[in-house]
Amino acid sequence: LPGQTDRHTLPHVDVYSDPSSQKLRTLAKGLAPGYLRFGGTKADFTVFLPDDNHVKAQLWEYTFIFQNKSGKSLISILPYGTEKYLKYEWPLQEELILRNENQNIFDYQTISGSSVDMLYSFANCSGFHLIFGLNALLRNDNNVWNSSNAEQLLKYCQSKQYRISWELGNEPNSFEKKAGIKVDGSQLGKDFIHLHNILKKYPLFQSSSLYGPDVGQPQKHRRKLLNGFLKSAGKVINACTWHQFFKIAYSYGENLNVFISLIYLQIVEKIVPGKKVWLGETGSAFGGGAPGLSDTYVAGFMWLDKLGLSAKLGIDVVIRQVFVGAGSYHLVDSNFDPLPDYWLSLLYKKLVGPKVLNVTIFTHDGDQNRHLRVYMHCARNNRYCIPFGDVTLIALNLSKKTTTIHLPKYFSSKRIDAYRLEPAGEGGLSSRNIQLNGKLLVMVDERTLPELTGSTLPVGSPLQIPGLTFAFYVIRDANVSACK
Ligand SMILES: *[C@@H]1O[C@H](CO)[C@@H](O)[C@H](O)[C@H]1NC(C)=O
Ligand SMILES: *[C@@H]1O[C@H](CO)[C@@H](O)[C@H](O)[C@H]1NC(C)=O
Ligand SMILES: *[C@@H]1O[C@H](CO)[C@@H](O)[C@H](O)[C@H]1NC(C)=O
Ligand SMILES: *[C@@H]1O[C@H](CO)[C@@H](O)[C@H](O)[C@H]1NC(C)=O
Repeated sequence: LPGQTDRHTLPHVDVYSDPSSQKLRTLAKGLAPGYLRFGGTKADFTVFLPDDNHVKAQLWEYTFIFQNKSGKSLISILPYGTEKYLKYEWPLQEELILRNENQNIFDYQTISGSSVDMLYSFANCSGFHLIFGLNALLRNDNNVWNSSNAEQLLKYCQSKQYRISWELGNEPNSFEKKAGIKVDGSQLGKDFIHLHNILKKYPLFQSSSLYGPDVGQPQKHRRKLLNGFLKSAGKVINACTWHQFFKIAYSYGENLNVFISLIYLQIVEKIVPGKKVWLGETGSAFGGGAPGLSDTYVAGFMWLDKLGLSAKLGIDVVIRQVFVGAGSYHLVDSNFDPLPDYWLSLLYKKLVGPKVLNVTIFTHDGDQNRHLRVYMHCARNNRYCIPFGDVTLIALNLSKKTTTIHLPKYFSSKRIDAYRLEPAGEGGLSSRNIQLNGKLLVMVDERTLPELTGSTLPVGSPLQIPGLTFAFYVIRDANVSACK
């Protein structure tokens, strides 16, 4: 969800009493279980004010602190959060994202107790665990993180019995660019340790998870920041997070390989061996996505490949920017209609289990086929019984050459269910509609997602994926011992 840039002139409509938001909840539930991360650039420009009535007085205080450090003009926005509101806010948010990216101007905002209530209940009722990104830019004169606002939020969440996990700061590598505040890795690490100690004081948060440092792709100075951070706070974080966005939305193909920075994984392994690594924020292209591409079928190649490659490299969690929000990299658009990447995610969650298998495709000449990208996992057990050792093959056909996949002999007598995804309607690759085995994917109604059924292939037939499309194949009763 985007940060809520709320205005108080609108009538209050609760997401849960507003029938039109049923759609959004149905869509969210479809992707559960998972994490809902409230974070991003705006988290470091957001202050928690439990009581809306005191907003004005306190806002002044925080605005003042902020202006002191950054010297940038700040606009105060009151908390509010509803579906109607979100729709109304859309064009404004779009403008804001572009402004943030292009001019490097960030608006200050607040989040109230009632907005936290809404956020938590949306997450919890949809089956998601909430990860809340705390503002790391509230700092004292000696550049140490000032935790007093975070403690107000913790007290509030404790009183409401909200189980939440935490982050502190978003892309600290660009704090200087965004806010004129420079924080090195070792100082950020100390701030995390401080937060860890505070969490220990609250019975509800004693064992809650802490994720960070949410750095951008590790170029030189970011690597230094990461090093310093891990040396000081590696022990207190539950997973090490980094962010990735493509610079050019349509640079897929061979370039799919380069997105994962192995250097990053190596740094983490060297300093904190065994520490989990998460892709803490990722989408197609940065700055809200690439208009006309990020919300269409073609973006699915990057998304599906990212999921496959991340899992293969041992990255446990991939957090998609954004579920719903401005820009064009969202899963759900401004009418709350699901886009191709939503359907892709839904199928992925239904068919793909967490265990990764090693699969390679060779051409007739014995070379690796570079135009066909494949990943294989044990099938998800909620649909395909684990004792039968079912596996799911993910295949992306980037080729125009005629090729066909022949599975190893071992699978030749097995039943295979194909889930072929192709663009629907006009627009081809840049269509905002997608079809599964020839059938357009749409919600049945606001409470119901369509049945996602595979089409069973004739036994022993090779797999044919149409050009420039992707597909899932579930091999049933495959009896793969690793999956039993
Ligand atoms: C939702 O809240 C209930 C009650 O606190 C809790 O038991 C449950 O685990 C929560 N669900 C998620 C997905 O966090
Ligand atoms: C931290 O911030 C609060 C709220 O602005 C302020 O009252 C307090 O003095 C600050 N703490 C330090 C050590 O500067
Ligand atoms: C995966 O399979 C390929 C081809 O057989 C092999 O070269 C590679 O070492 C394997 N990787 C792992 C991690 O087992
Ligand atoms: C990939 O697409 C091409 C057409 O572009 C097609 O001829 C080929 O059969 C497809 N590959 C597979 C493995 O289905």
